Amino acid sequence: MTEVIDGNAVAAGIREGVADCVDALTGADVKPGLATVLMSADPASETYVSMKQRDCEEVGIEGIHVEVDPDAPAEELYATVDELNDDPSVHGVLVQLPLPEHVDKREVVRRIDPAKDVDAFHPENVGRLVAGDPRFKPCTPHGVQRLLEATGVDPEGKEAVVVGRSDIVGKPMANLLFGRDEGGNATTTVCHSRTDDLAEHTRRADVVVAAAGVPEFITGDMLSEGAVVVDVGVNRVERDGDSTLVGDVEFESAERKASAITPVPGGVGPMTRAMLLYNTVKAAALDAD
Ligand code: GUN
Repeated sequence: MTEVIDGNAVAAGIREGVADCVDALTGADVKPGLATVLMSADPASETYVSMKQRDCEEVGIEGIHVEVDPDAPAEELYATVDELNDDPSVHGVLVQLPLPEHVDKREVVRRIDPAKDVDAFHPENVGRLVAGDPRFKPCTPHGVQRLLEATGVDPEGKEAVVVGRSDIVGKPMANLLFGRDEGGNATTTVCHSRTDDLAEHTRRADVVVAAAGVPEFITGDMLSEGAVVVDVGVNRVERDGDSTLVGDVEFESAERKASAITPVPGGVGPMTRAMLLYNTVKAAALDAD
């Protein structure tokens, strides 16, 4: 019987742990604070940011939300980031991506104080992860690692295949999977849009992490019997005249092959949000040290 991994349940457990840490820090006169910055009129981005703010409230993190007009010059966003960097009540700064075309994303990411970079996108934090000494682990790959752990899957010695090489998911996911820490030590292959025979790789995998951004890209015939499948994809597609969410994995056919699989929604998504809270509390704790 295939286990459908319940990301909501695992995330709820992580939020409980975070809430306990918030209580302990607050007792020591440190109230963790997370600032979200939105420079976009995209309804999906607006929804993501408001969910992050709601999550903060639930665990006792002080949520600060700043909106920058999407038509404003980039300097306005830089000034906002600078202010939040200088604000001692703010421990984490998250600038919601994507940004408008006229704003240089790399410059914004470089501008965030690395000690407040709870996304772990700053080059210093990327470097620390690659060097095996992470300050923060990026939220989505860290969430995937925790989901595997909660499912009783230890990647050590196993064949892991990551499909996708994005800066946010694919690259850091591979680093965590082959890294020397707990939840790593897998023999890790990174496949991408230029991979010649993708199925040849995925069929070898004990663990497949699908993060290609292509709806239902990974089908059951591309998997080995008993594989563990983690679907990072969130794709909105039109189906029978309705708009619906699908992952990067074709769930029905993959479920028949997999020993465990994450659904979309309700798999990786809630974990990403929970790990953001985790990183915020970690930032506050490091700041208090
Ligand atoms: N947009 C989509 N995912 C993310 C994320 O993890 N962090 C930020 N800052 N923006 C995003």
